[in-house]
Amino acid sequence: MKELNSSYLLHGGDYNPEQWQDYPQILEQDFKLMKDANINTVTVGMFSWAALEPEEGVYHFEWLDDVFDHMNEIGGKVILATPSGARPAWMAEKYPEVLRTNSKGEKLYFGERHNHCFTSPIYRAKVQEFNTLLAKRYGARNNLLMWHVSNEYGGECHCELCQEAFRHWLKNKYGTLKALNDAWWTTFWGHSFNDWSQVHSPSPLGDSNLNGLNLDWRRFVSDQTIDFYSNEIQPLRELTPNVPITTNFMADTFDLIPFRGLDYFEFAKHLDVVSWDCYPAWNNDFETPKHTAMKVAMIDDYFRSLKQQNFLIMESTPSQVNWHPYNRAKRPNVHRLSSLQHIAHGSDSNLYFQWRQSRGASEMFHGAVITHEGSSKTRIFHDVHQVGQDLNAIAEVKDCKHAKAEVAIIFDHENMWALNDTQNYANETKNYWQTLQSHYQYFWEHDIPVDIISPKVDLTAYKLVIDPMHFLMSTKFMDQLYKFTSSGGTVVGTYLSGVVNENDLAYLGGWPEQLQHLFGLKVEETDTLYPNQSNVIEMDGQSFRAQDYCEVISNISAKNLAIYKDDFYAGRPAVTMKKVDHGTSYFIACRTNSDFLNSLYELISKRLELKSDSSIGKDNAAVSIQIRQNSTHKYLFVMNFDETAHQVELDHSMTEMLTNELRNGTVKMPAGGVAIFRDQIV
Ligand code: GLA
Ligand code: ZN
Repeated sequence: MKELNSSYLLHGGDYNPEQWQDYPQILEQDFKLMKDANINTVTVGMFSWAALEPEEGVYHFEWLDDVFDHMNEIGGKVILATPSGARPAWMAEKYPEVLRTNSKGEKLYFGERHNHCFTSPIYRAKVQEFNTLLAKRYGARNNLLMWHVSNEYGGECHCELCQEAFRHWLKNKYGTLKALNDAWWTTFWGHSFNDWSQVHSPSPLGDSNLNGLNLDWRRFVSDQTIDFYSNEIQPLRELTPNVPITTNFMADTFDLIPFRGLDYFEFAKHLDVVSWDCYPAWNNDFETPKHTAMKVAMIDDYFRSLKQQNFLIMESTPSQVNWHPYNRAKRPNVHRLSSLQHIAHGSDSNLYFQWRQSRGASEMFHGAVITHEGSSKTRIFHDVHQVGQDLNAIAEVKDCKHAKAEVAIIFDHENMWALNDTQNYANETKNYWQTLQSHYQYFWEHDIPVDIISPKVDLTAYKLVIDPMHFLMSTKFMDQLYKFTSSGGTVVGTYLSGVVNENDLAYLGGWPEQLQHLFGLKVEETDTLYPNQSNVIEMDGQSFRAQDYCEVISNISAKNLAIYKDDFYAGRPAVTMKKVDHGTSYFIACRTNSDFLNSLYELISKRLELKSDSSIGKDNAAVSIQIRQNSTHKYLFVMNFDETAHQVELDHSMTEMLTNELRNGTVKMPAGGVAIFRDQIV
């Protein structure tokens, strides 16, 4: 595994000088302004193919050479992107097979970006050729920090080359057509295939309702994207074996759900460092900043968990974006607080899209460090400068890891695909990731570290494994969960779990036996409620609301913790607990609000002695305390996400690193305030 060769936290971002080649006076200012902004890293070349190879075989690398030289002069590093995210027009014209084909079979025109065919041998060869040139020319530069391969991989192609590749993938997986027909249950609606050539990717013009096909297509798209990436990096690995490689991952803006198109757990295995692009809607009108902060915390934890190592924020905005439905400016303090939050969760960078606001085209109004105004005299510049200063002040956290988690929440991309695709329950309220967030909330509010892991990860490192809505669950995983629990672990399972196997085929004979043993119950029915309907569950004389999904279960050998109060299942168990050899299992049969989950997790946390490793006392859950540490020091990031002031209590003196002051006792935390304490481990 290659590590980043940097002694400091990275601060900077996308630099696109190819847009400004006719404005020499602008280019001249850039590096001086970067130094003034405390910027130490630029990411360059993301969409530069047309500028670097304006005609086939004609190259213009001079401007890119200059970037390396100038960054060297200011002591900065370069993250060099490969340009496959946007190919030049001449290539699309000369080799139309590089263009993507949509699910209706329409070949797309040249334009936009992120829209190549991921199978095309010509595109793959062109990309390798170009990456070879980059690696040969820049591989020996001492300030080449890492490779940023392509940009935000995503989407799919349905051209004939891709159809063939899909069929090949299926043959590999199933061996025989009979096995494929069985796995997809093609006897329904008489869809049985008798020749591989009849199989076609999901399409509104053909099959879009064959769940097994849809799921395998999603798996294929993910694998084929990783395969395309592997082809891209081959020359980089060969020519620059010591330069680490990343590609920038994504998450959805409002709910901060991992990008739905790719299995990032699998993809991450092929990267040296995980990086992602983060654009949350701070200060919106539908949730408190505390809630936004909790969601950002969880997705940061997910990206950290992908490789169980520090990650990078590859893009964020220094101010607003231009493509939210409402593009709010960042309130004072928010830039600093939100940037340091990523560091607190294990990021080694805060990088921006982009350095200088473009003069035209679709993102001309997207926030940038240098706005159209052009100087360093803006609030945005000041905020960026401040964050740069902060990152320098805390540079030593670079070699520290986020505190070890004893709690894991299971997230499975395949499960998300299958659950979202299944025609049952209610599409509006499936909300898989949002449900995980509601389980995460208690731990975030209590500063208890959490990993977000795939079902393929070894569970033994954890005390508590939370596994909500695990609709598509293999029997292998059921066995693993049982083993984890019987040897002393605690597991929490919920409604909509263990319904289908890895082929998206329903389990026959009732709820799977392994789960019956694990939880001591049987799921009999799932009731999907309308948004305005609800039930009530009662635990220890306290009532809580249940909504969206209520499963009717029969208890075999578990202890009832809560029962339903209404409807035809009134009096039946809603939440149960069972001792399983040395461990314990809990089952939550219905969707509850966080008030119930908080009560349950309080109980479980006490029993398992789960707590924060922080010695700092806090008076409000909106104050988050995250810890990074090495063998000698703990770094406590204290962040107030509330809109009012709070205070924290230190029981011994520690240095606050942003102000370099020794503090003890009560420390005031203004709204949006952040403090970072260095605590020696004794
Ligand atoms: C994405 C892309 C960038 C830019 C930003 C801002 O993350 O990678 O090129 O478009 O969004 O919109
Ligand atoms: Zn294709």
